[in-house]
Amino acid sequence: MRIGDRDFRSIWPGEDGDCVEIIDQTKLPHALEIARLTRLDDAAKAIADMWVRGAPLIGATAAYGMALALRSDPSDAALGHAYDTLHATRPTAINLRWALDRVRQEVGRLPVSDRAQAAWTLAARMCDEDAATNRQIGENGLALIEAIAREKSPGEPVNVLTHCNAGWLATVDWGTATAPIYLAHDKGIAIHVYVDETRPRNQGAGLTAFELGNHGVPHTLVVDNAGGHLMQHGMVDLCIVGSDRTTARGDVCNKIGTYLKALAARDNGVPFYAALPVSTVDWTVRDGVAEIPIEQRGGEEVSHVVGMSDHGVVERVRIAPETTPVANYAFDVTPARLVSGLITERGVCEASEAGLAALFPELARKQ
Ligand code: MRU
Repeated sequence: MRIGDRDFRSIWPGEDGDCVEIIDQTKLPHALEIARLTRLDDAAKAIADMWVRGAPLIGATAAYGMALALRSDPSDAALGHAYDTLHATRPTAINLRWALDRVRQEVGRLPVSDRAQAAWTLAARMCDEDAATNRQIGENGLALIEAIAREKSPGEPVNVLTHCNAGWLATVDWGTATAPIYLAHDKGIAIHVYVDETRPRNQGAGLTAFELGNHGVPHTLVVDNAGGHLMQHGMVDLCIVGSDRTTARGDVCNKIGTYLKALAARDNGVPFYAALPVSTVDWTVRDGVAEIPIEQRGGEEVSHVVGMSDHGVVERVRIAPETTPVANYAFDVTPARLVSGLITERGVCEASEAGLAALFPELARKQ
């Protein structure tokens, strides 16, 4: 997707072939800085410190992290060490484990001398697949937007609410929740997006608003608590969010605050969809509330806010008393009963065991 007049993916191999390049998302929207990852530890740090974030992009970066590790040591021990190091970076997004398992399975069975090149090629292929998958999610979700648009008078926008950043910056390209939005906009359908700011790290304000603005999609930034009010007043036609881990029965784990939006949507009869690739489904888990590990992050993300002053200086300022205890749960789980449907690369299904199994019988049956 575009930033200014340049096309970007969120991750790509460096031109000299000895590094991977990423956009340092901690600097957005204030500065566009490209970072080079050359070693396993660079990739692990980029994920842990959220230079890259978003479930599919975490997976893609982890795949490249494995490839970087195998360049310096392709042994079984190094493969295991790389797997463990990357797996320990963030606990909730299941795409991380999915990507690591895939690289370990496909590369680990090869002769040691072939592993580094094979892992590099595989990581690149996984990135291409992620972009294609998200585009397909977009095609499948577009039908939902088109159906709403048909009920509107000409030029009246379809109003979508989204939470956090499930955009192209959270994936390799297109995004999950944003893919149907971009395709609708590109097709000339009038669409407008309410962007939740998404405290504490403000991925909505800093990343989703940045993306939508660069693509020319009309949008309005709102505080996290505005969604219920907007829905009560008929200002939201559809909610689309992403997911970090969706269970075999359709519970959707996503950025903290997603659950409250789903409750408000249910109370107001607003359809609430999660858009996700199958790599986000954890077939080993059914009850998301009981079983999904929820990342807890540093309290300073809550007690402080980071932003750019009117003088162009990025500053971190305290908003709570120094002695105030803080809790920082990064994700929550929206039970399947509150989810109108799952938008996947194979189509839109009910958020249920039967719905997912109908679309992905070969994966559901395995468990
Ligand atoms: O903590 P983050 O920024 O990694 O959280 C990202 C989200 O919650 C996204 O909604 C999710 O990963 C889906 S990305 C397509």
